[in-house]
Amino acid sequence: MTDSKNKQILLSGIKPTGRPHIGNYFGMMKQMVDMQDEYESFPFIPDYHALTSVQSAEDMQRDIINVVVDFLAIGLDPEKVNLFKQSDVPQVTELAWIFNCITTMPYLMRAHAFKDAEAKNKEINVGLFDYPVLMAADILIQDTDIVPVGKDQRQHVEMARDVAQKFNRIFGKTFKLPQVKVLEEMEVTPGTDGQKMSKSYGNTISLFAEDNEIEKAVMGIPTDSKGIEESKNPEECNIFALHKLFSSEDELGEIRKRYVEGGLGYKESKDILVKNIKDFITPLREKRKEFAEDIDSVKEILRKGGEVARQRAEVKMKDVRKKIGVEL
Ligand code: ADP
Ligand code: TRP
Repeated sequence: MTDSKNKQILLSGIKPTGRPHIGNYFGMMKQMVDMQDEYESFPFIPDYHALTSVQSAEDMQRDIINVVVDFLAIGLDPEKVNLFKQSDVPQVTELAWIFNCITTMPYLMRAHAFKDAEAKNKEINVGLFDYPVLMAADILIQDTDIVPVGKDQRQHVEMARDVAQKFNRIFGKTFKLPQVKVLEEMEVTPGTDGQKMSKSYGNTISLFAEDNEIEKAVMGIPTDSKGIEESKNPEECNIFALHKLFSSEDELGEIRKRYVEGGLGYKESKDILVKNIKDFITPLREKRKEFAEDIDSVKEILRKGGEVARQRAEVKMKDVRKKIGVEL
């Protein structure tokens, strides 16, 4: 943990719901690593958010540990950041209840995640409906300044700002208004089918994929039937969209040129992509294996991070309880 108290607070979470993919990496996880020196950082694991869909103790435990190992493997330094899990900060659920009482149902019905679930006729538990409120509590209880996320989470952070403003209006100034940080060039990583890469669409490339998984995912990218010598529009090609993430600037320029001029077939384009993704993932996968061997250290990292997050949350809640009048 860094000692400088005047750094801004950075907080973001990734749910323990299966293997992270390169969209999670470029959208959020990498930002947490890149910014860990500049900010006082709180990367965390929103396990109570995951409970809206993960309802097996075995899966939950496994994936909590996995997320920590993933973060360590990509270079998050537990000496610099406070890595914790949400359930170690019970003040968050306490605050979520308080926020529930100043949040209306029609307001929550405007959330994309809820509308999506409804459109797909999914069974919607109350936790899923209330998801943005719990997320507002995560963010506001730590006096967060900056929340780095992918584009799909922008609305949730905006809702946290609304909740903060409403609370401040009713009970007096208590919460800071957080800023969302979406990296423009990374806002949506496309999946192998060109849609947003997402665990729920089955179009992902896992961040720690084995070589054969990488080959399979890339070779499965659909293309049109243009021949090798034909001119192709790189901006309409799902392979090219991924080249943007894994090629150097020079190489990308060269690939773009060969697309437009003709001469680069889709098979060769895929081969180049497979090679570049392997070069990127192989060292991460190796590091991940090392960290995965020491689960006790993983637990200790979470315990320490949880302590810091919990202490800060309790200080904030003392003020909140006073403001709403339950502390006599
Ligand atoms: P998923 O949609 O695969 O279930 P999550 O909801 O767990 O992903 O997202 C975790 C983090 O990764 C969030 O900050 C989210 O914005 C980011 N993220 C997820 N998918 C993408 C993507 N395709 N491009 C950019 N960021 C993404
Ligand atoms: N909703 C986020 C997601 O699905 C996870 C999350 C929970 C989060 N609480 C948060 C992200 C607070 C940023 C800040 O990815």
